[in-house]
Amino acid sequence: MISQQKPLIESLKDQQEIFGDLLFEEIQTKSATDLPEETISMKSSKKIEVELNNNLFQEDFQSAKSLKELDSLIHDCQKCALGKTRNKFVFGVGNPNATAMLIGEAPGADEDAQGEPFVGRAGKLLNDILKALDMKREEVYIANILKCRPPNNRDPLPSEEDTCKPHLLKQIELIKPKIILCLGRVAANALLGKKLSLTDLRENIYDLDGIKVFATYHPAALLRNPHWKRGCWEDFKKFKKLYDELSVN
Ligand code: URA
Repeated sequence: MISQQKPLIESLKDQQEIFGDLLFEEIQTKSATDLPEETISMKSSKKIEVELNNNLFQEDFQSAKSLKELDSLIHDCQKCALGKTRNKFVFGVGNPNATAMLIGEAPGADEDAQGEPFVGRAGKLLNDILKALDMKREEVYIANILKCRPPNNRDPLPSEEDTCKPHLLKQIELIKPKIILCLGRVAANALLGKKLSLTDLRENIYDLDGIKVFATYHPAALLRNPHWKRGCWEDFKKFKKLYDELSVN
């Protein structure tokens, strides 16, 4: 029974990954035949401005002058209940002066054990995608919305996102990337302060205080739904093209 339930739950989670809270609305208002096309087509991107406001959070770590200092100020964090259940605080990894940041949702079991983002199966797929684009994991900076693993890999709670997001915004302030790629709907909505489906998120390029922000599929969702790889590859190519343009300027 349990072994049958697991794929069903994961498949529903994947549907939610694409459609978000609109899942049932979309299914009720659209005919079955026009759904798939709409979910995979890449319309020309709109540009949308979003404000990056970290001033509301006047905390000690705001004075950090480097990622190392920031890490030392926050890695014992106990501001939410995940501080009690984590094994390792997963700060982030990569080039402190990166032009591009990749942002995921939260550490999973492998990341929680090793203290580094995207080191499990999804991370290996991410490394392969970067390699196919002629990019190295070390040239970008990789971080998550949450720095601690939610038990059983459940979605982050809104309160956990609100508590942890200032840490990520401070990382962004120190790294000063020109471009950010959000991996998955949860990461993109949390960063941009939106509640959109991944379909909608993928259609736009957001402007976060001058930083270009894109969204694509979460690599873990691709492992379960290989037919999403094509759309993901298109997103990554778009990201790489802009990355190359911004890297020379
Ligand atoms: N999934 C994420 O969103 N982040 C990780 O670090 C690993 C898996």
